[in-house]
Amino acid sequence: MRVVTIDGPAGAGKSTVARMLAKRLSWRLLDTGAMYRAVTLAALRAEVNLESDAELGALAAGLHVELPPGSVKLNGEEVSGLIRGVELTRALRFVADSPSVRHCLVGWQRAFARDHNVVTEGRDQGTIVFPDAFRKYYLTASLEERARRRHAEYQGARERISLEALLADLRERDERDAARAIAPMKPAQDACVLDTTGLSLDEVVGRMEHDIRERLETA
Ligand code: C5P
Repeated sequence: MRVVTIDGPAGAGKSTVARMLAKRLSWRLLDTGAMYRAVTLAALRAEVNLESDAELGALAAGLHVELPPGSVKLNGEEVSGLIRGVELTRALRFVADSPSVRHCLVGWQRAFARDHNVVTEGRDQGTIVFPDAFRKYYLTASLEERARRRHAEYQGARERISLEALLADLRERDERDAARAIAPMKPAQDACVLDTTGLSLDEVVGRMEHDIRERLETA
């Protein structure tokens, strides 16, 4: 099966672009951030020690997270409406920094791509999870633009957070994601890096689709 990876920092447009691209190609979408978020929700509910890699790993290993189109299921429960909040997002770092959780989720992600052609988005998809992907992209945008996009999303979802607080949260999350000892966020050597600042996401998807179709023809 073929894999297109899309990595990059929060708010760079990955989710929207990945969803649109998967739809246009009729491939399945793999939102790996949703997996980390679902594990975080489970960890908060179970009140495990977030500082303990062993506890987090044991918890993750016993979970059943599914990503049917348009939905996120944690042990059969629809949780897509519960995993995007500001507080959960702040707790994410413990889960994303846990080597045991990462090991487990890499397994889930590869299993997902065994059965489908996949557009996958995350931080480590081109570097660690799918080093032999058919095509790799790394999306970026300026911090200010990314904060503005996230702010608009939160307002749509009626979450209260100031643009300044969001900017600080994003900056901290980026720094942590990039500095992580295992699977740090960075472009794969063979990734196409796209700066989406000032571009419409439709435009970005158009370029990517064109590029992929051209490669599919010659593959
Ligand atoms: O993309 P999203 O904002 O949903 O990701 C949430 C967090 O999950 C990221 O900030 C990152 O810490 C973590 N993550 C990760 N590796 C991935 C996807 C997400 O570490 N492949």
